[in-house]
Amino acid sequence: MAQSQDISMDIGTSNVLIYMQGKGIVLREPAVVAVDRDTDKVLAIGSEANRLVGRTPGNVQAVRPFRTGSLSDFTLASTMLQSFLRTVVGRHWLARPRCVLSVPTGVSETERRSISSIMFDAHMRRTQMIDRPIAAALGVGIPFSEPYGSLIVDMGAGATDIAVLAMNEIVVATCVPIGGDYFDDAIIRYIRKKHNLLIGDLTAEEIKINIGSAALPTGELAEVSADVTGRSLISGLPKTQEITTMEVYEAIKEPVAELIEAIQGVIEHTPPQLASDVFEDGIVLTGGAAALTGLAEAVYQALNIPCGVAEDPQTSVVMGCARILENGSLLRENPAEGRRKRLRG
Ligand SMILES: Nc1ncnc2c1ncn2[C@@H]1O[C@H](COP(=O)(O)OP(=O)(O)OP(=O)(O)O)[C@@H](O)[C@H]1O
Ligand SMILES: [Mg+2]
Repeated sequence: MAQSQDISMDIGTSNVLIYMQGKGIVLREPAVVAVDRDTDKVLAIGSEANRLVGRTPGNVQAVRPFRTGSLSDFTLASTMLQSFLRTVVGRHWLARPRCVLSVPTGVSETERRSISSIMFDAHMRRTQMIDRPIAAALGVGIPFSEPYGSLIVDMGAGATDIAVLAMNEIVVATCVPIGGDYFDDAIIRYIRKKHNLLIGDLTAEEIKINIGSAALPTGELAEVSADVTGRSLISGLPKTQEITTMEVYEAIKEPVAELIEAIQGVIEHTPPQLASDVFEDGIVLTGGAAALTGLAEAVYQALNIPCGVAEDPQTSVVMGCARILENGSLLRENPAEGRRKRLRG
């Protein structure tokens, strides 16, 4: 039986979520560390560090240790995770909790070992890593122990995992670098080109969340707009510009099409019987970026397959890991690693 302080974690490129048994989700923090590059001193971690992004003097840098999906800075990743775990586990350290966690799919074997050692240093007794699509499917309660195909798309900030699952296994899967960050970059490029206005990453993200749409906006949605402030590329001074939902749709149209193409690629590589299950049951979207307005609609319109978004999509993966924590038998039913056919290219 698991101890009450056992935890599950979703370590993402932009957010870390921690679930504690008996308490629910106890931490949801940006995966950011603010570092003074002159002295290499860590100034702030998590949301506090995020507040410094773009507002800091030149020598202070905001680093996302998992930004590329890989462990780009071991020391900073270690400092960040230790800090989060200290907040959550606190005085229970002596109890050496168990942890079930999910890491970005691009993380290599060596990096996984590094993460295990970070967790050990953070007083975890045992760490089990789960493939992200499996965790996401468990989190939304998709019954994939049957000989029946389910398609799950977990869309985070840095990447999107697309997988067909059946009989407790990943049958076909891919991971593409098309996540929320990719959409933000497209918005930055569009506004710079169309309005000669330079905006920061956080402003682009706000625009996407507040007035973005992946499907062609119609009716009232087409009328929605927001004032956006950036730096004019002509005068070099601050400038405020009205941006409409229609413009954001135009800006992210191409990345949305690329994402849909990647989903289609996975379906094309799926054995016909399992593919027909997917056509019947539809696609489930998880991950924070799945909350983008009109995303499920855009997927449905392009592929003619029903598509739905998980209720609180950012929590699907951590909740899936929590299910494994709470039900040890799932560990045997749903092997964490390997036995999967990866779709290349
Ligand atoms: N309402 C929303 N509409 C559109 N995008 C959203 C919304 N809420 C969050 N996002 C986006 O979701 C992304 C963060 O999602 P999430 O926390 O699942 O990522 P992550 O797990 O850290 O990344 P990854 O899984 O790629 O490692 C960000 O790009 C953010 O802008
Ligand atoms: Mg994620």
